[in-house]
Amino acid sequence: QELIHDLRDLQPNLVGQVVAFRARLHNLRKLSAHLMFIELRQQTATIQGILHEHGSVSQHFLYWAEHLHVETIVRVKGVIQEPRAKQGEVLGVSIHNIEVHIHEMHVEGAPDEPLPFTVHEAEVSRAEAEQEGDGRHHVSDRARQSNRIIDLRTTTSQAIFRVQSAICHAFRNNLTDLGFIEIHTPKLWGAASESGASVFKVDYFGRPAFLAQSPQLGKQMAIASDLRRVFEIGPVFRAENSNTHRHLTEFTGLDLEMAIDEHYHEVLRTLDSTFKAIFNHVYKNYRPEIEDVKRQFPHEDLVWLEETPIIPFADAIRMLNESGHRDEHGKELPLNEDLGTRDEIALGRVIKERLKTDYYVLDKFPASARPFYTMPDPYDPTVTNAFDIFLRGQEILSGGQRIHDAPMLVKRMEEKKIDPKTMEEYMTGFEWGAPPHGGGGIGLERILMLLLQLGDIRHATLFARDPRSLPY
Ligand code: ATP
Ligand code: AMO
Repeated sequence: QELIHDLRDLQPNLVGQVVAFRARLHNLRKLSAHLMFIELRQQTATIQGILHEHGSVSQHFLYWAEHLHVETIVRVKGVIQEPRAKQGEVLGVSIHNIEVHIHEMHVEGAPDEPLPFTVHEAEVSRAEAEQEGDGRHHVSDRARQSNRIIDLRTTTSQAIFRVQSAICHAFRNNLTDLGFIEIHTPKLWGAASESGASVFKVDYFGRPAFLAQSPQLGKQMAIASDLRRVFEIGPVFRAENSNTHRHLTEFTGLDLEMAIDEHYHEVLRTLDSTFKAIFNHVYKNYRPEIEDVKRQFPHEDLVWLEETPIIPFADAIRMLNESGHRDEHGKELPLNEDLGTRDEIALGRVIKERLKTDYYVLDKFPASARPFYTMPDPYDPTVTNAFDIFLRGQEILSGGQRIHDAPMLVKRMEEKKIDPKTMEEYMTGFEWGAPPHGGGGIGLERILMLLLQLGDIRHATLFARDPRSLPY
């Protein structure tokens, strides 16, 4: 018999028919020596199965089934029937209006011992556990992270990764429509691009090499190679030995780089249209997923404006100081230094209050806070033609105009104590002539975490890489 691959195809018009499908044992409930209910799950869809001695299975069979571990993968064959009684609440896409009376069941893959927790338990949110329902407890974040494969099977995680995929899809589609091409730059380099401090060093046949901290060098070289408008979705490595809710040692960068005609705000407009395309796609087409996530991570939908506020960095700091915000030492924030996380979040609150948006740009960052390749403002060299984009008070993108003039680039490298000789391959792009250009990089896990208010970036990545997590 042909297997049904999507439980959602099981509809009341099939009542009376024999069907076969593969599913996991989501939950078992024994009612009597003769009757057992099993909830069967495929991804987020569940259906109730009935094992009934007087139906078509033996007592011996019932005894065997009762001892199966939850999460076992079974292949079942049975007859679709109308539900005989109202079922309890089932999560995800539960198929309420029919059930399957099971005749045959074979095990195709089984845990060799009971799992640390079941998906059925992991579906319980903190709020639901507090209200105490059926005796299940909320599974802690720590247990979830150390048993990630089980946690990924939950409705919440399945929804999170569908939204992650949607973000990449909208990024790629919007840029392709704007004439960008997708590129793949090397991940092994002879030099660091962002800051020498947070770079992973590897042994490259006896010579030192570095894992790409950003596709920065490669994407600029693509512009010098006349590819004109490029984007990349790829891995980014940062030897950041900080355990925070928003740093990974490996994350996914959504990057773009483009030639500029007149003004670096062309880059900003392109990025802004890309963010809006992402937000619209997700909120328009992924509403059920967002609602699933909200059960586990309660939050408000993102608020953004038709016209995105572009606030000069110094003005934002003034606004923050005026609001009464002070640094850890009780002092006003200086106008020429990068913001810390605490300040960023406070600024997010002030902007939300005044401008009613969770999404905004800070432009004209101080030169001291930006990498060597950043174009200074031609009218005020203490600031740059560079910006960050924020979501709910936290950075999701850095970008700006780049220096395309070779002597100026060498000068900036020297000021930042970088030896241009370590970047020969990159430097030739400028020595041989590169157009004015700019770009930006988004952290995929950051935007996902902040869009869905997941609280910790580890929920937004399949198998987190942070300073503590490398497998043996
Ligand atoms: P017997 O062995 O005489 O058939 P039993 O107790 O094993 O009795 P049932 O009488 O079929 O089995 O059912 C036991 C209880 O389970 C009843 O209260 C019945 O209403 C309930 N029940 C049976 N089938 C379902 C179903 N599909 N959904 C919900 N409840 C059911
Ligand atoms: P930046 O270093 O700001 O800029 O990185 C770009 C974006 O990447 C994300 N991000 C991170 N996400 C998770 N874990 C980390 N450790 C981490 N570090 C950064 C953030 C950040 O906004 N070359 C420039 C980009 C450019 O100018 O094109 C760059 O790498 O969302």
